[in-house]
Amino acid sequence: MRRALFLTLLVWQSWTHAASESVPLIEAGINTQDAASIQRGAGLFVNYCLSCHKATYMRYNRLTDTGLSEDQIKASLIFDDSTKVGDVMTNGLDPVGAKAMFGVAPPDLSVISRSRGVDWLYTYFLSFYKDESTVTGWNNTLFPNVAMSHVFAAQQGEQVLVIDEERHSQPQLKLAVEGTMSPDQYKQMIRDLVNYLAFMGEPAAEKRKQIGSVVLIFLILFAFLAWALKREFWKEIH
Ligand code: HEC
Repeated sequence: MRRALFLTLLVWQSWTHAASESVPLIEAGINTQDAASIQRGAGLFVNYCLSCHKATYMRYNRLTDTGLSEDQIKASLIFDDSTKVGDVMTNGLDPVGAKAMFGVAPPDLSVISRSRGVDWLYTYFLSFYKDESTVTGWNNTLFPNVAMSHVFAAQQGEQVLVIDEERHSQPQLKLAVEGTMSPDQYKQMIRDLVNYLAFMGEPAAEKRKQIGSVVLIFLILFAFLAWALKREFWKEIH
């Protein structure tokens, strides 16, 4: 019994220890019902990500779920004549060439919000810092030695890693060079981007929740009807 308790404690300790060593995630705080935010995020995605990352499960015209018309999608998100509004979001990059270029092929981002989670994605875009020792000149506290460059360096500015040797605290990120956006504006932009990534990972989520409510209301009404009917049938017999 004692041994079992000891082992449990040991496992518990190693777990909590491992957890405290990784970078704590910052809550993204996205509002998945904010259609305008999703639309702004889609704009960021096609302008800043699609040159490297595909989203081969995402068709442009799924954005009609956010209230955009097909013409609006075509005008604001598609920049060439050959891409149709019913096409999936892809680029001309071939995986072998991309791997040669970056060392790692940029992954498809269709369902990244489900594999990484929205808080991870939000934290990732807040965790880039200047590091001249890497190929890109950037590093990331959440994803050490990531092969991706900081695509929003102009907006966020340059963060540097500060290690306080005396206090032995966790390394901190400090904004050394200001960007074109204030920290709050930058966070709002990343929230929009993450909101879109979440939408892309599960574009029918909002619709499913609505259908769920309708089904529940139906079931409650039906249960009441069945009960009333049963009462009516058995009234004579008792
Ligand atoms: C210049 C090319 C390039 C651009 C532009 C780019 N990325 Fe990346 N991205 C990469 C590469 C390469 C990797 C793989 C990094 C690695 O595994 O070390 C990556 C990795 C990632 C990852 C981590 C994936 C994982 O779970 O392993 C995420 C998330 C991501 N990118 C999101 C984005 C988003 C969102 C944008 C647009 C705002 C973007 N990227 C723009 C090249 C790019």
